[in-house]
Amino acid sequence: MSWREDAKHRASVEAARLVEDDQIVGLGSGSTMYYLIEELGRRIREEELRICCIPTSKQTESQARKHKIKLTTLDKHPQIDIAIDGADQVDSNLNLIKGKGGALTREKIVDSIARFLIIVVDETKLTDHLGLMQPVPIEVMPFALKPVMNRIKKMGGEPVIRFATKTASPSSTEQYFTTDNGNIIIDAEFGTIKAPKKMEMELKMIPGVIENGLFVNMAHRVYVGMKSGAIKTVNKEEAFLQ
Ligand code: A5P
Repeated sequence: MSWREDAKHRASVEAARLVEDDQIVGLGSGSTMYYLIEELGRRIREEELRICCIPTSKQTESQARKHKIKLTTLDKHPQIDIAIDGADQVDSNLNLIKGKGGALTREKIVDSIARFLIIVVDETKLTDHLGLMQPVPIEVMPFALKPVMNRIKKMGGEPVIRFATKTASPSSTEQYFTTDNGNIIIDAEFGTIKAPKKMEMELKMIPGVIENGLFVNMAHRVYVGMKSGAIKTVNKEEAFLQ
C-alpha cells in the first residue's frame, strides 16, 4: 500500500470513531470514503451499532449495502447528525474543493445539513489557497452546456468538459461523464481563488448550473493523514486562528 493510501486509511479509521450509536450518518464518496465505509461496517458488526446512513452516490450506496449498513433517505431523515466525506483540496480555513468523483451535488446537500461535517484527506490535499492546480468541478444540465461554458469563460475560468473513461458507451452524448443525476461535469480552472464564497455564489447563479464543487464554511473538522504516519486534526475554530 502506498503512503497515501495508508494515510487515507488511518485517517478514516480515526474519523469513523466519531460515529455514535443511533445516529443518522451522511456518507460521502470517493476513494477515501472506501476506507471509512469499511471501518464503519466493521464497527456496526462488532459493536452492534444501530446507525442509519445516507449515501451520496451509487458507488457509496453499493459499498454500504455490501456491509449491510442500514440506509435511509432525506425524506425520512432530513437532519443528519454527522457526515464524513473526502475532498480534493482543503485550504487553511477548511474551505474545500470537491467533486473529482462527480458526486458533488448530493455531497453538498448532505454535507450542508449535517450538524457535524468531518473531512478526511491525505496531506497532499492541503493548500493555502483553493484553485491552484485544482479545477472546480461544476455539475451542469446537458441542455445548458454551451451557455454555461461561455459564462465561466466570462468569469475568467477555463472550462473543460469531463469525459467518461474509454470503456463507456460509444453514443455521442454518453461520451461525456454522466453524474448519478444524469448531468454533465465541467472542470473549470480559475487559478488561485481569492474569494471562494463569492465564486461559489457566482457559479451558483448561472442558469443551468446544478451545483459547484466549492464547499465554503461547511467543514467542522478535518483529519489529515500525514506522510510521517501521524494523523493531524484541524478544527474549524482553530483554522480561523492560524
Ligand atoms: C466525489 O465527487 C468527491 O467529492 C470526493 O469526495 C473527492 O474527490 C475526494 O475523493 P478521493 O477520496 O478519492 O480523493
